[in-house]
Amino acid sequence: MATMESLIGLVNRIQRACTVLGDHGGEGMSLWEALPSVAVVGGQSSGKSSVLESVVGRDFLPRGSGIVTRRPLVLQLHKTENGQPEYAEFLHAPKKRFSDFASVRKEIQDETDRITGKSKQISNIPIHLSIYSPNVVNLTLIDLPGMTKVAVEGQPDTIVEDIDNMVRTYVEKPNCIILAISPANQDIATSDAIKLAREVDPTGERTFGVLTKLDLMDKGTNALDVLEGRAYRLQHPWVGIVNRSQADINKNVDMIAARRKECEYFESSPEYGHLSSKMGSEYLAKLLSKHLETVIRQRIPSIIALINKTIDELNAELDRIGRPIAVDSGAQLYTILELCRAFDRIFKEHLD
Ligand code: GDP
Ligand code: NA
Ligand code: MG
Repeated sequence: MATMESLIGLVNRIQRACTVLGDHGGEGMSLWEALPSVAVVGGQSSGKSSVLESVVGRDFLPRGSGIVTRRPLVLQLHKTENGQPEYAEFLHAPKKRFSDFASVRKEIQDETDRITGKSKQISNIPIHLSIYSPNVVNLTLIDLPGMTKVAVEGQPDTIVEDIDNMVRTYVEKPNCIILAISPANQDIATSDAIKLAREVDPTGERTFGVLTKLDLMDKGTNALDVLEGRAYRLQHPWVGIVNRSQADINKNVDMIAARRKECEYFESSPEYGHLSSKMGSEYLAKLLSKHLETVIRQRIPSIIALINKTIDELNAELDRIGRPIAVDSGAQLYTILELCRAFDRIFKEHLD
């Protein structure tokens, strides 16, 4: 039997096939929607992009104050064999391999501007990025624009509502795992992330609460009420994070140094020392991956059913259009059909 790691990898590949070839779920829930993914939500500058980068263990996202993330970024992490080179690939530039992560950041910025202009406008059209690396866990993560309360200069008045709607289309899906980011230097009662999570996931079973900026809290205060689940209870434990500050970013403090600093912060903290093994970005990445495995395992039967429904629908569609062999839409359907059959086989192996 294949390992769990490869099972998440498999789901990653189906999601990728769905994006490249079009989502063929027919009526009802689509294949993409049936598969779990993780969406990062929270207010502007709460630290969403920073958390995502720490989970990946790589610097590659535009970060900063104000509205930096202006299109959804669908990020697929693919774990490769040890010793393999690390690289990134965009769906909009499939032939180009990026091995320098500073150029990945630049490409995200350019691709954002290409649709929205160099403005503060947003767009619903996602950017699809895949990272192949021996150092990642298999995960699909979605970075989203931050929720905000007021439009700023150069933004349409509808922006507050537009962002809210965009974020909702992701987190409302029952298979979406919500990474709800709240900054520790603001009252948790005012957290946009928790407000939204409470609405779309009232039982808290698919919400992971993440508390950033612990290092920025006022002296003499601490976040134990939140981290120990008393301020707002979720089914999963809260995870505290210390990301790089803007000063760290400006000084080019690298990821390894940042993670080491984060570990030291928790281990040496008089308040959080007793929680230190369950805090930080590395722990969060493992927690998410483990949860994803559990969810996928529970869903195997329904995923198989959906794949088979897709196979039936594709066969019917091919019958209808007369099974062409040329390079056209028919050929593309064949490819999806073949993929579905392969996935069906492998998923069934996991049932044993
Ligand atoms: P986003 O808008 O939610 O994606 O937030 P970003 O990740 O872009 O972060 C916004 C700003 O907050 C950046 O300047 C980060 O350096 C800073 N920041 C984020 N998390 C932390 C943290 O845990 N501690 C400190 N000191 N700064 C942070
Ligand atoms: Na920001
Ligand atoms: Mg961001």
